[in-house]
Amino acid sequence: MEELQQVKDQIKQFVIECNDTKSLELLDKLATGKMLRSKLILKIAGINEQSIKLCAIVEMIHAASLLHDDVIDEADTRRGQPSVNALYDNKTSIMFGDILYSKAFTELSQMDKKIAYTVSNAVTLLSIGEMLDVDLTNSFNKSYDKYLDMIYKKTASLIEASAKAAAILVGHDEVKYALYGKNLGLAFQMIDDILDITQDSETLGKPAMLDFVEGKVTIPYLLLHERVEDKEKLESLYKKELSQEESDWIKKQMIQTNALSDSITQAKKLGNEAIEAVKGEENSETLIMIMKAMIEREF
Ligand code: FPP
Ligand code: MG
Repeated sequence: MEELQQVKDQIKQFVIECNDTKSLELLDKLATGKMLRSKLILKIAGINEQSIKLCAIVEMIHAASLLHDDVIDEADTRRGQPSVNALYDNKTSIMFGDILYSKAFTELSQMDKKIAYTVSNAVTLLSIGEMLDVDLTNSFNKSYDKYLDMIYKKTASLIEASAKAAAILVGHDEVKYALYGKNLGLAFQMIDDILDITQDSETLGKPAMLDFVEGKVTIPYLLLHERVEDKEKLESLYKKELSQEESDWIKKQMIQTNALSDSITQAKKLGNEAIEAVKGEENSETLIMIMKAMIEREF
């Protein structure tokens, strides 16, 4: 998509303005993702100088959070490519993250005050969400409310802010678009958590079924724990390197108890709530398409 190239060019321009060759070299090492947040902003606000800038700011914040997250998670791949912490080291990944989000904030401070508030507030939530996520991996979390609060802050808050800020840019109903973004973000994270179980490592670009090994009790595991007969067995596998037999057992139980299909249903329910929020709005057709493509995605 040509407009996404414009966003990439804007990001590069912002990094060029930092006047630092190492930063430019590092930017080159970042694998491009799906750019969901940019697609959303451009669908709501159209393509113009302000919306492209907003996209670049949000993508830089998102990239910074992933640079930090890969250090925290000790991940050596990102989007199927070696992560910056693996290619260089943890220090470089953290510092480059700092550069990206500071530059993003500098640019954000030049935008409309309400947009600056919306996006920067989301970054506070995102940071709290990451801390909640890490804390939740200390022991087997059995609370759906804690999981939902964590994924709202960690993932949905920035997507919500993107939709809201884009609506502010063009004078649309920001409350409706924020609600759409929030539910899209929640569903997006749930689908991500489901794909961790259903997809193979090649498709994911990282080892499959890694969440549970890392201590993350995502929605399919939460439902499974409620329903499975042998809870002790499930608990004994928590945070353990899983053998083929063990991961097969988990998957089989998830299918038998409908934990997997009900997780998909829950993500779809949130998806429908997102659609409800913007029904009747201008360009709601494309927003529905974004939602559907996101739910039906395979990676
Ligand atoms: C990925 O989660 C992580 C996030 C979406 C947010 C990370 C946020 C921070 C590190 C806060 C710092 C923020 C800034 C702007 C520097 P995941 O580990 O569940 O997903 P993954 O499988 O893609 O790694
Ligand atoms: Mg991670």
